[in-house]
Amino acid sequence: MEILKKMMDLTKGLETPFILLDLEILKRNYKRLKDNLPFVDIFYAVKANSHHRIINTLKELGSSFDVASASEIEKLLKLGITPDRMSFGNTIKKESDIRFAYSVGIDYYAVDSEMELEKIACNAPGSKVYFRLMIDSSDSDWPLSKKFGTNSEHIKSLAIYAKTLGLVPFGISFHVGSQCNNKFKWREAMKEASKIFRELKLDYDIDLKMVNLGGGMPVVYDKPIPTVEEISEVIKDSIEKYFYFVKDLKIIIEPGRSLVGNIGVIVSSVILRSKKTDGEWVYLDVGIFHGLAEAMGGIKYQMIVEGKENSKLKTFKLAGPTCDSIDIMYEAVELPEDITLNDRVYILNAGAYTTEYATNFNGFYGPVVYFVEDLEFEKTRANSIEQKEES
Ligand SMILES: Cc1ncc(COP(=O)(O)O)c(C=O)c1O
Repeated sequence: MEILKKMMDLTKGLETPFILLDLEILKRNYKRLKDNLPFVDIFYAVKANSHHRIINTLKELGSSFDVASASEIEKLLKLGITPDRMSFGNTIKKESDIRFAYSVGIDYYAVDSEMELEKIACNAPGSKVYFRLMIDSSDSDWPLSKKFGTNSEHIKSLAIYAKTLGLVPFGISFHVGSQCNNKFKWREAMKEASKIFRELKLDYDIDLKMVNLGGGMPVVYDKPIPTVEEISEVIKDSIEKYFYFVKDLKIIIEPGRSLVGNIGVIVSSVILRSKKTDGEWVYLDVGIFHGLAEAMGGIKYQMIVEGKENSKLKTFKLAGPTCDSIDIMYEAVELPEDITLNDRVYILNAGAYTTEYATNFNGFYGPVVYFVEDLEFEKTRANSIEQKEES
């Protein structure tokens, strides 16, 4: 709520849709994670929000970065981030992207298939590869398990194959699913990963060195979540319990949502309210194509309608402005019963996976990006000019 109060004040008169981002909250999020897991290297998942000011802030704080494509790598290089602070975490890479990554000096690549290993051996010879373990992500609101990762037996054969291809089998990664509501998922994954470490060592003399804890830490949307502190405790316990036999274990984590989710609020306007046979509809100037794609899955954003915080609630269908019927955020959502044209709707904790998904479909542009620090600066300047003129 802190950002909301600040922003209603700062953004009066700005045309919607826009997103307001607060880099001070980002700094606090990073510090909180680092304080809880001081021995873990943080690789921010750039895909969550690749705005250059977010990247720069994290760079200054000492973060490393998880990248998914050549253009993300290029962006980071331009911002002065060195390749030793990048890991290529996408298991589905274009060959040309692998070549590019190798040519600039990236050394870590995620894999979950033979062909990906062959592509890396050919285009990034001698590199370090880590294997993505498939984890049940049924406790996550945005599961990622279906498309990525593989089972332990397959990982062992991939590690052996990697060696024959001249690559370095380096570690295991997993992702418990984004917006994970169960802290014990990290324990489950780490237990399974440690078994692979042990078996590869004992049976094949392959020494894995790294465990990559992936993303998954949640932010507050519509229900209580496990905290960073609680998840970190489970991680620390699991390291002690399952990885005590690995010397010089490198541990990395790839947070996306948990670093940037709560730094942003999308501000939109109601552009239509209409009664139909199937119920009442509210249409906003942002929708599935303008940053709210995750509403189609399990993400339930909390929304506040300005000036109507105390109104009685009623169930509506909520949709975006485009001419596509997939552009529906929620079939049933509680909004103030007196919501009407031009009301401002604040979509909270919308800093992650929103502007990254935004398109200009139908000529409706996604949210303009503003930063709290800029608006505060402008406000201070305007106040001091006003004071000077008065005196
Ligand atoms: C490889 C990888 N790492 C990290 C993340 C970040 O996950 P989250 O935003 O849940 O922290 C993702 C998200 O898709 C991912 O694909």
